[in-house]
Amino acid sequence: MRKNVAQFSRIGFILSAAGAAVGLGNIWKFPYMTGVYGGGAFVMVYLITILLIGVSLLVAEMYIGKIGQADAVSNFENEAPKAKRAWAKAGYIIFIGLIIMTFYSVVIGWIFYYLYVALTGLPTNLQDAQNIFNTLYASSPWLQITFHTLSTAIVAAILFGGIKNGIEKFNLLLMPTLIVILLGLMVYAMQFEGFSKALAFMFAPDFSKLNSEAIIRAVGHSFFTLSIGIGSIMAYAAALPKETNIFRAGLWVAFLDTFIALIAGIVIFSFLFQFGGEPAKGPGLVFMSLPIIFAKLGTVGTVIALLFFLGMAFAGLTSAISLVEPAVMYLEDRYEWSKKKAVIFNSLLYYVVGILVVFSTTDGFKEYLMIGKKSLFDALEFAVDSFLMPLGGILIALFVGYALSKERVAKELVPEMGEKIFAVWYFSIRYIAPFAVLFLAYNSLTS
Ligand code: PFF
Repeated sequence: MRKNVAQFSRIGFILSAAGAAVGLGNIWKFPYMTGVYGGGAFVMVYLITILLIGVSLLVAEMYIGKIGQADAVSNFENEAPKAKRAWAKAGYIIFIGLIIMTFYSVVIGWIFYYLYVALTGLPTNLQDAQNIFNTLYASSPWLQITFHTLSTAIVAAILFGGIKNGIEKFNLLLMPTLIVILLGLMVYAMQFEGFSKALAFMFAPDFSKLNSEAIIRAVGHSFFTLSIGIGSIMAYAAALPKETNIFRAGLWVAFLDTFIALIAGIVIFSFLFQFGGEPAKGPGLVFMSLPIIFAKLGTVGTVIALLFFLGMAFAGLTSAISLVEPAVMYLEDRYEWSKKKAVIFNSLLYYVVGILVVFSTTDGFKEYLMIGKKSLFDALEFAVDSFLMPLGGILIALFVGYALSKERVAKELVPEMGEKIFAVWYFSIRYIAPFAVLFLAYNSLTS
Protein backbone atom coordinates (compact mmCIF):
# COMPACT_ATOMS: atom_id res chain seq x y z
CA MET A 1 0.00 0.00 0.00
CA ARG A 2 1.17 3.47 -0.75
CA LYS A 3 1.45 5.52 2.38
CA ASN A 4 0.26 9.11 2.60
CA VAL A 5 0.32 9.60 -1.12
CA ALA A 6 -1.82 12.35 -2.57
CA GLN A 7 -4.45 11.22 -5.03
CA PHE A 8 -5.48 12.66 -8.35
CA SER A 9 -8.78 14.43 -8.75
CA ARG A 10 -10.99 12.76 -11.39
CA ILE A 11 -10.31 15.35 -14.07
CA GLY A 12 -6.66 15.47 -12.97
CA PHE A 13 -6.39 11.74 -13.58
CA ILE A 14 -8.05 11.83 -16.99
CA LEU A 15 -5.91 14.72 -18.19
CA SER A 16 -2.73 13.18 -16.76
CA ALA A 17 -3.41 9.80 -18.34
CA ALA A 18 -4.30 11.61 -21.57
CA GLY A 19 -1.08 13.59 -21.14
CA ALA A 20 0.82 10.31 -20.94
CA ALA A 21 -0.88 9.00 -24.05
CA VAL A 22 -0.74 12.16 -26.14
CA GLY A 23 2.88 12.67 -27.04
CA LEU A 24 5.41 12.79 -29.83
CA GLY A 25 3.63 9.68 -31.07
CA ASN A 26 0.57 11.77 -31.92
CA ILE A 27 2.09 14.88 -33.40
CA TRP A 28 5.32 13.62 -34.92
CA LYS A 29 5.00 9.88 -35.55
CA PHE A 30 1.33 9.43 -36.46
CA PRO A 31 1.27 12.07 -39.24
CA TYR A 32 4.52 10.93 -40.82
CA MET A 33 3.48 7.27 -40.71
CA THR A 34 0.12 8.15 -42.24
CA GLY A 35 2.04 9.91 -45.02
CA VAL A 36 4.46 7.04 -45.57
CA TYR A 37 1.78 4.33 -45.55
CA GLY A 38 -0.58 6.10 -47.90
CA GLY A 39 -3.29 7.77 -45.79
CA GLY A 40 -6.86 6.61 -45.18
CA ALA A 41 -6.46 2.84 -45.09
CA PHE A 42 -3.62 3.13 -42.56
CA VAL A 43 -5.72 5.48 -40.44
CA MET A 44 -8.60 3.03 -40.55
CA VAL A 45 -6.50 0.07 -39.29
CA TYR A 46 -5.14 2.31 -36.55
CA LEU A 47 -8.64 3.36 -35.46
CA ILE A 48 -10.00 -0.19 -35.51
CA THR A 49 -7.09 -1.49 -33.42
CA ILE A 50 -7.53 1.26 -30.85
CA LEU A 51 -11.19 0.40 -30.54
CA LEU A 52 -10.92 -3.39 -30.51
CA ILE A 53 -7.69 -3.97 -28.60
CA GLY A 54 -6.25 -0.69 -27.36
CA VAL A 55 -9.13 0.34 -25.14
CA SER A 56 -9.39 -3.16 -23.62
CA LEU A 57 -5.73 -3.21 -22.68
CA LEU A 58 -5.84 0.34 -21.39
CA VAL A 59 -8.69 -0.53 -19.04
CA ALA A 60 -6.93 -3.76 -17.98
CA GLU A 61 -3.77 -1.83 -17.09
CA MET A 62 -5.77 0.77 -15.16
CA TYR A 63 -7.55 -2.05 -13.35
CA ILE A 64 -4.28 -3.57 -12.06
CA GLY A 65 -3.20 -0.15 -10.78
CA LYS A 66 -6.53 0.48 -9.14
CA ILE A 67 -6.69 -2.81 -7.23
CA GLY A 68 -2.99 -2.85 -6.38
CA GLN A 69 -2.61 0.80 -5.32
CA ALA A 70 1.17 0.46 -5.38
CA ASP A 71 4.12 0.33 -7.75
CA ALA A 72 3.80 -2.20 -10.60
CA VAL A 73 6.15 -4.82 -9.09
CA SER A 74 4.15 -4.84 -5.85
CA ASN A 75 0.86 -4.85 -7.76
CA PHE A 76 1.68 -8.00 -9.69
CA GLU A 77 3.23 -9.63 -6.61
CA ASN A 78 0.44 -8.82 -4.16
CA GLU A 79 -2.51 -9.37 -6.40
CA ALA A 80 -1.42 -12.64 -8.03
CA PRO A 81 -3.01 -15.69 -6.46
CA LYS A 82 -0.60 -17.38 -4.02
CA ALA A 83 0.34 -20.18 -6.42
CA LYS A 84 1.36 -17.72 -9.13
CA ARG A 85 4.04 -15.66 -7.45
CA ALA A 86 6.23 -15.72 -10.54
CA TRP A 87 4.01 -12.87 -11.68
CA ALA A 88 5.98 -10.44 -9.53
CA LYS A 89 8.60 -10.36 -12.27
CA ALA A 90 6.08 -8.91 -14.73
CA GLY A 91 6.28 -5.67 -12.77
CA TYR A 92 9.74 -4.99 -14.17
CA ILE A 93 8.03 -3.66 -17.29
CA ILE A 94 8.39 -0.33 -15.50
CA PHE A 95 11.98 -0.07 -16.70
CA ILE A 96 10.89 0.02 -20.33
CA GLY A 97 9.92 3.66 -19.74
CA LEU A 98 13.54 4.54 -18.96
CA ILE A 99 14.65 2.83 -22.17
CA ILE A 100 12.10 4.87 -24.14
CA MET A 101 13.34 8.03 -22.44
CA THR A 102 16.89 7.50 -23.76
CA PHE A 103 15.67 8.62 -27.19
CA TYR A 104 12.38 10.35 -26.33
CA SER A 105 14.25 12.99 -24.33
CA VAL A 106 16.65 13.55 -27.23
CA VAL A 107 13.72 14.17 -29.61
CA ILE A 108 12.12 16.58 -27.12
CA GLY A 109 15.49 18.34 -27.24
CA TRP A 110 15.17 18.70 -31.02
CA ILE A 111 11.81 20.39 -30.52
CA PHE A 112 13.37 22.89 -28.11
CA TYR A 113 15.97 23.59 -30.77
CA TYR A 114 13.24 24.16 -33.37
CA LEU A 115 11.63 26.73 -31.09
CA TYR A 116 14.94 28.54 -31.34
CA VAL A 117 14.97 28.09 -35.15
CA ALA A 118 11.43 29.50 -35.35
CA LEU A 119 12.56 32.57 -33.44
CA THR A 120 15.79 33.19 -35.32
CA GLY A 121 14.80 32.35 -38.90
CA LEU A 122 12.96 29.45 -40.49
CA PRO A 123 14.46 27.78 -43.58
CA THR A 124 12.98 29.00 -46.84
CA ASN A 125 13.87 26.08 -49.13
CA LEU A 126 14.40 22.35 -48.91
CA GLN A 127 18.18 22.64 -49.09
CA ASP A 128 18.27 24.93 -46.04
CA ALA A 129 15.73 22.83 -44.18
CA GLN A 130 17.74 19.68 -44.73
CA ASN A 131 20.91 21.47 -43.70
CA ILE A 132 19.41 22.62 -40.42
CA PHE A 133 18.05 19.20 -39.52
CA ASN A 134 21.07 17.21 -40.68
CA THR A 135 23.53 19.55 -39.00
CA LEU A 136 21.69 19.07 -35.74
CA TYR A 137 21.29 15.33 -36.17
CA ALA A 138 24.63 14.35 -37.65
CA SER A 139 27.19 16.90 -36.58
CA SER A 140 26.09 18.77 -33.46
CA PRO A 141 26.26 16.31 -30.57
CA TRP A 142 26.90 19.03 -27.99
CA LEU A 143 23.92 21.05 -29.09
CA GLN A 144 21.72 17.96 -28.88
CA ILE A 145 23.15 17.10 -25.47
CA THR A 146 22.46 20.62 -24.23
CA PHE A 147 18.79 20.31 -25.15
CA HIS A 148 18.61 16.72 -23.88
CA THR A 149 19.93 18.06 -20.57
CA LEU A 150 17.28 20.77 -20.52
CA SER A 151 14.53 18.23 -21.19
CA THR A 152 15.85 15.90 -18.46
CA ALA A 153 15.97 18.79 -15.97
CA ILE A 154 12.39 19.91 -16.71
CA VAL A 155 11.05 16.36 -16.40
CA ALA A 156 12.89 15.86 -13.08
CA ALA A 157 11.63 19.19 -11.74
CA ILE A 158 8.02 18.19 -12.42
CA LEU A 159 8.49 14.75 -10.88
CA PHE A 160 9.92 16.32 -7.68
CA GLY A 161 6.45 17.85 -7.16
CA GLY A 162 4.86 14.38 -6.93
CA ILE A 163 1.40 13.38 -8.12
CA LYS A 164 -0.55 16.39 -6.94
CA ASN A 165 1.85 19.33 -7.16
CA GLY A 166 3.87 18.10 -10.08
CA ILE A 167 2.17 15.69 -12.46
CA GLU A 168 -1.44 16.78 -11.98
CA LYS A 169 -0.75 20.51 -11.90
CA PHE A 170 1.41 20.38 -15.00
CA ASN A 171 -1.10 18.32 -16.98
CA LEU A 172 -4.05 20.47 -15.92
CA LEU A 173 -2.23 23.42 -17.39
CA LEU A 174 -0.58 21.97 -20.46
CA MET A 175 -3.17 19.58 -21.84
CA PRO A 176 -5.94 22.17 -22.32
CA THR A 177 -3.33 24.58 -23.75
CA LEU A 178 -2.22 21.94 -26.24
CA ILE A 179 -5.81 21.28 -27.31
CA VAL A 180 -6.47 25.01 -27.77
CA ILE A 181 -3.28 25.42 -29.85
CA LEU A 182 -4.13 22.50 -32.14
CA LEU A 183 -7.76 23.52 -32.58
CA GLY A 184 -6.64 27.08 -33.31
CA LEU A 185 -4.25 25.82 -35.97
CA MET A 186 -7.00 23.68 -37.46
CA VAL A 187 -9.41 26.61 -37.66
CA TYR A 188 -6.67 28.61 -39.38
CA ALA A 189 -6.08 25.76 -41.83
CA MET A 190 -9.77 25.51 -42.70
CA GLN A 191 -9.49 28.47 -45.06
CA PHE A 192 -7.14 26.50 -47.32
CA GLU A 193 -8.21 24.30 -50.19
CA GLY A 194 -5.62 21.95 -48.79
CA PHE A 195 -7.93 21.33 -45.85
CA SER A 196 -10.44 19.27 -47.82
CA LYS A 197 -7.60 17.48 -49.58
CA ALA A 198 -6.19 16.62 -46.16
CA LEU A 199 -9.54 15.23 -45.03
CA ALA A 200 -9.80 13.14 -48.19
CA PHE A 201 -6.24 11.88 -47.78
CA MET A 202 -6.80 10.84 -44.19
CA PHE A 203 -10.33 9.52 -44.28
CA ALA A 204 -10.94 8.10 -47.76
CA PRO A 205 -9.23 4.72 -47.54
CA ASP A 206 -7.39 3.41 -50.56
CA PHE A 207 -6.96 -0.25 -49.68
CA SER A 208 -4.60 -0.92 -52.54
CA LYS A 209 -1.98 0.91 -50.49
CA LEU A 210 -2.44 -1.33 -47.48
CA ASN A 211 0.36 -3.89 -47.38
CA SER A 212 1.20 -6.11 -44.42
CA GLU A 213 3.94 -3.77 -43.24
CA ALA A 214 1.42 -0.91 -43.04
CA ILE A 215 -0.91 -3.08 -40.97
CA ILE A 216 1.84 -4.11 -38.55
CA ARG A 217 2.98 -0.53 -38.12
CA ALA A 218 -0.59 0.70 -37.57
CA VAL A 219 -1.22 -1.93 -34.89
CA GLY A 220 2.15 -1.28 -33.24
CA HIS A 221 1.59 2.43 -33.23
CA SER A 222 -1.80 2.10 -31.57
CA PHE A 223 -0.08 0.56 -28.52
CA PHE A 224 2.68 3.14 -28.45
CA THR A 225 0.26 6.01 -28.71
CA LEU A 226 -1.97 4.79 -25.89
CA SER A 227 1.08 4.17 -23.64
CA ILE A 228 0.08 0.57 -23.05
CA GLY A 229 2.30 -2.06 -21.51
CA ILE A 230 4.98 -0.33 -19.48
CA GLY A 231 3.18 0.46 -16.25
CA SER A 232 2.74 4.22 -16.82
CA ILE A 233 -1.03 4.19 -16.84
CA MET A 234 -0.88 1.66 -13.99
CA ALA A 235 1.22 4.03 -11.88
CA TYR A 236 -1.27 6.84 -12.39
CA ALA A 237 -4.24 4.54 -11.70
CA ALA A 238 -2.63 3.54 -8.39
CA ALA A 239 -3.15 7.12 -7.22
CA LEU A 240 -6.82 7.14 -8.13
CA PRO A 241 -9.75 7.77 -5.82
CA LYS A 242 -11.42 4.38 -5.26
CA GLU A 243 -14.76 5.45 -6.69
CA THR A 244 -13.41 6.44 -10.12
CA ASN A 245 -14.98 4.60 -13.02
CA ILE A 246 -11.90 3.38 -14.89
CA PHE A 247 -13.88 2.19 -17.89
CA ARG A 248 -15.20 5.66 -18.53
CA ALA A 249 -11.76 7.15 -17.81
CA GLY A 250 -10.21 4.71 -20.30
CA LEU A 251 -12.68 5.73 -22.99
CA TRP A 252 -11.90 9.39 -22.36
CA VAL A 253 -8.16 8.84 -22.61
CA ALA A 254 -8.46 6.84 -25.83
CA PHE A 255 -10.81 9.44 -27.28
CA LEU A 256 -8.54 12.39 -26.45
CA ASP A 257 -5.49 10.57 -27.74
CA THR A 258 -7.14 9.69 -31.04
CA PHE A 259 -8.76 13.10 -31.42
CA ILE A 260 -5.44 14.90 -30.98
CA ALA A 261 -3.59 12.60 -33.39
CA LEU A 262 -6.27 13.17 -36.04
CA ILE A 263 -6.28 16.96 -35.56
CA ALA A 264 -2.48 17.06 -35.76
CA GLY A 265 -2.65 15.02 -38.97
CA ILE A 266 -5.33 17.26 -40.48
CA VAL A 267 -3.36 20.42 -39.64
CA ILE A 268 -0.09 19.10 -41.02
CA PHE A 269 -1.56 17.71 -44.24
CA SER A 270 -3.65 20.84 -44.85
CA PHE A 271 -0.49 22.93 -44.85
CA LEU A 272 1.32 20.35 -46.92
CA PHE A 273 -1.31 20.04 -49.64
CA GLN A 274 -1.84 23.80 -49.72
CA PHE A 275 1.78 24.80 -50.10
CA GLY A 276 3.24 21.80 -51.85
CA GLY A 277 5.16 19.23 -49.88
CA GLU A 278 5.64 15.51 -49.96
CA PRO A 279 3.35 13.61 -47.58
CA ALA A 280 5.61 10.56 -47.64
CA LYS A 281 8.72 12.33 -46.33
CA GLY A 282 9.00 10.15 -43.20
CA PRO A 283 10.41 11.31 -39.85
CA GLY A 284 11.59 14.60 -41.36
CA LEU A 285 8.02 15.67 -42.17
CA VAL A 286 7.62 17.85 -39.12
CA PHE A 287 11.23 19.01 -38.92
CA MET A 288 11.88 19.69 -42.60
CA SER A 289 8.71 20.08 -44.70
CA LEU A 290 6.68 22.09 -42.20
CA PRO A 291 9.26 24.78 -41.33
CA ILE A 292 9.61 25.73 -45.02
CA ILE A 293 5.85 26.15 -45.27
CA PHE A 294 5.73 28.25 -42.11
CA ALA A 295 8.50 30.45 -43.52
CA LYS A 296 6.35 31.18 -46.58
CA LEU A 297 3.70 32.71 -44.33
CA GLY A 298 5.99 35.46 -43.01
CA THR A 299 5.31 36.78 -39.51
CA VAL A 300 2.11 34.76 -39.19
CA GLY A 301 4.19 31.72 -40.05
CA THR A 302 6.65 32.45 -37.26
CA VAL A 303 3.80 32.64 -34.76
CA ILE A 304 2.30 29.42 -36.10
CA ALA A 305 5.68 27.68 -35.97
CA LEU A 306 6.20 28.77 -32.36
CA LEU A 307 2.75 27.56 -31.36
CA PHE A 308 3.17 24.29 -33.22
CA PHE A 309 6.54 23.42 -31.67
CA LEU A 310 5.39 24.62 -28.26
CA GLY A 311 2.38 22.31 -28.47
CA MET A 312 4.64 19.47 -29.51
CA ALA A 313 7.02 20.19 -26.61
CA PHE A 314 4.08 20.12 -24.18
CA ALA A 315 2.84 16.84 -25.60
CA GLY A 316 6.32 15.35 -25.28
CA LEU A 317 6.93 16.53 -21.72
CA THR A 318 3.60 15.28 -20.34
CA SER A 319 4.42 11.85 -21.77
CA ALA A 320 8.01 11.95 -20.57
CA ILE A 321 7.00 12.36 -16.93
CA SER A 322 4.76 9.31 -17.22
CA LEU A 323 7.65 7.30 -18.62
CA VAL A 324 9.85 7.94 -15.58
CA GLU A 325 7.24 7.99 -12.77
CA PRO A 326 6.72 4.18 -12.60
CA ALA A 327 10.42 3.59 -11.82
CA VAL A 328 10.41 6.48 -9.33
CA MET A 329 7.38 5.02 -7.57
CA TYR A 330 9.06 1.60 -7.42
CA LEU A 331 12.16 2.89 -5.66
CA GLU A 332 10.08 4.98 -3.26
CA ASP A 333 7.67 2.16 -2.41
CA ARG A 334 9.97 -0.83 -2.27
CA TYR A 335 13.21 0.66 -1.02
CA GLU A 336 11.86 3.67 0.80
CA TRP A 337 14.04 6.04 -1.16
CA SER A 338 13.16 9.70 -0.92
CA LYS A 339 11.43 11.09 -4.02
CA LYS A 340 14.41 13.30 -4.74
CA LYS A 341 16.86 10.44 -4.69
CA ALA A 342 14.57 8.22 -6.81
CA VAL A 343 14.04 10.94 -9.42
CA ILE A 344 17.74 11.83 -9.67
CA PHE A 345 18.83 8.20 -9.89
CA ASN A 346 16.37 7.26 -12.65
CA SER A 347 16.98 10.49 -14.57
CA LEU A 348 20.71 9.87 -14.54
CA LEU A 349 20.23 6.34 -15.85
CA TYR A 350 18.40 7.40 -19.00
CA TYR A 351 20.32 10.66 -19.34
CA VAL A 352 23.69 8.92 -19.65
CA VAL A 353 22.45 6.36 -22.18
CA GLY A 354 20.74 9.27 -23.99
CA ILE A 355 24.16 10.83 -24.53
CA LEU A 356 25.28 7.62 -26.25
CA VAL A 357 22.09 7.74 -28.33
CA VAL A 358 23.06 11.23 -29.48
CA PHE A 359 26.54 10.10 -30.47
CA SER A 360 25.09 7.08 -32.28
CA THR A 361 23.83 9.37 -35.05
CA THR A 362 26.81 11.70 -35.11
CA ASP A 363 29.53 11.60 -37.75
CA GLY A 364 32.83 10.35 -36.39
CA PHE A 365 31.21 8.41 -33.54
CA LYS A 366 28.36 6.51 -35.05
CA GLU A 367 30.42 3.57 -36.27
CA TYR A 368 31.27 2.75 -32.63
CA LEU A 369 27.67 2.81 -31.49
CA MET A 370 25.95 0.34 -33.76
CA ILE A 371 23.96 -2.69 -32.76
CA GLY A 372 24.04 -4.96 -35.77
CA LYS A 373 23.19 -2.75 -38.72
CA LYS A 374 21.24 -0.23 -36.68
CA SER A 375 22.38 2.85 -34.82
CA LEU A 376 21.84 2.64 -31.05
CA PHE A 377 19.00 5.15 -31.54
CA ASP A 378 17.19 3.00 -34.11
CA ALA A 379 17.94 -0.23 -32.25
CA LEU A 380 16.39 1.05 -29.02
CA GLU A 381 13.34 2.38 -30.81
CA PHE A 382 12.94 -0.90 -32.66
CA ALA A 383 13.31 -2.96 -29.46
CA VAL A 384 10.64 -0.87 -27.74
CA ASP A 385 8.13 -0.92 -30.61
CA SER A 386 8.54 -4.50 -31.72
CA PHE A 387 9.32 -6.36 -28.56
CA LEU A 388 9.25 -4.59 -25.20
CA MET A 389 5.89 -2.80 -25.39
CA PRO A 390 4.12 -5.81 -26.94
CA LEU A 391 5.61 -7.96 -24.16
CA GLY A 392 4.20 -5.61 -21.53
CA GLY A 393 0.81 -5.67 -23.27
CA ILE A 394 0.73 -9.48 -23.35
CA LEU A 395 1.68 -9.74 -19.67
CA ILE A 396 -1.11 -7.36 -18.70
CA ALA A 397 -3.69 -9.24 -20.80
CA LEU A 398 -2.61 -12.64 -19.44
CA PHE A 399 -2.56 -11.43 -15.85
CA VAL A 400 -6.06 -9.97 -15.95
CA GLY A 401 -7.48 -12.62 -18.30
CA TYR A 402 -5.96 -15.76 -16.79
CA ALA A 403 -4.10 -15.25 -13.50
CA LEU A 404 -6.89 -13.39 -11.73
CA SER A 405 -10.25 -15.07 -11.27
CA LYS A 406 -13.07 -13.91 -13.49
CA GLU A 407 -15.30 -13.36 -10.43
CA ARG A 408 -12.85 -10.96 -8.94
CA VAL A 409 -12.44 -8.89 -12.09
CA ALA A 410 -16.18 -8.91 -12.74
CA LYS A 411 -16.93 -7.72 -9.23
CA GLU A 412 -15.04 -4.53 -9.88
CA LEU A 413 -15.83 -3.93 -13.53
CA VAL A 414 -19.40 -5.14 -14.11
CA PRO A 415 -20.80 -2.26 -12.05
CA GLU A 416 -18.75 0.11 -14.25
CA MET A 417 -19.41 -1.44 -17.65
CA GLY A 418 -22.59 -3.45 -17.37
CA GLU A 419 -22.82 -7.21 -18.05
CA LYS A 420 -22.76 -7.03 -21.84
CA ILE A 421 -19.79 -4.75 -22.33
CA PHE A 422 -17.94 -6.67 -19.64
CA ALA A 423 -18.44 -9.90 -21.60
CA VAL A 424 -17.02 -8.32 -24.77
CA TRP A 425 -14.14 -6.72 -22.89
CA TYR A 426 -13.26 -9.94 -21.10
CA PHE A 427 -13.32 -11.88 -24.35
CA SER A 428 -10.98 -9.34 -25.89
CA ILE A 429 -8.56 -9.51 -22.96
CA ARG A 430 -8.52 -13.33 -22.95
CA TYR A 431 -8.63 -14.23 -26.60
CA ILE A 432 -8.03 -11.27 -28.86
CA ALA A 433 -5.51 -8.90 -27.27
CA PRO A 434 -2.76 -11.39 -26.31
CA PHE A 435 -2.78 -13.11 -29.69
CA ALA A 436 -3.03 -9.92 -31.69
CA VAL A 437 -0.04 -8.54 -29.82
CA LEU A 438 1.87 -11.78 -30.23
CA PHE A 439 1.18 -11.66 -33.97
CA LEU A 440 2.43 -8.10 -34.09
CA ALA A 441 5.63 -8.86 -32.20
CA TYR A 442 6.33 -11.98 -34.26
CA ASN A 443 5.81 -10.18 -37.53
CA SER A 444 7.88 -7.16 -36.75
CA LEU A 445 10.73 -9.29 -35.40
CA THR A 446 10.80 -11.51 -38.46
CA SER A 447 10.20 -8.93 -41.17
N1 PFF B 1 2.17 7.56 -25.85
C1 PFF B 1 3.34 8.36 -26.00
C2 PFF B 1 3.35 8.99 -27.36
O1 PFF B 1 2.44 8.72 -28.17
O2 PFF B 1 4.26 9.74 -27.66
C3 PFF B 1 4.61 7.59 -25.77
C4 PFF B 1 4.58 6.80 -24.50
C5 PFF B 1 4.43 7.45 -23.29
C6 PFF B 1 4.66 5.42 -24.56
C7 PFF B 1 4.30 6.72 -22.13
C8 PFF B 1 4.56 4.68 -23.39
C9 PFF B 1 4.35 5.36 -22.19
F1 PFF B 1 4.21 4.68 -21.12
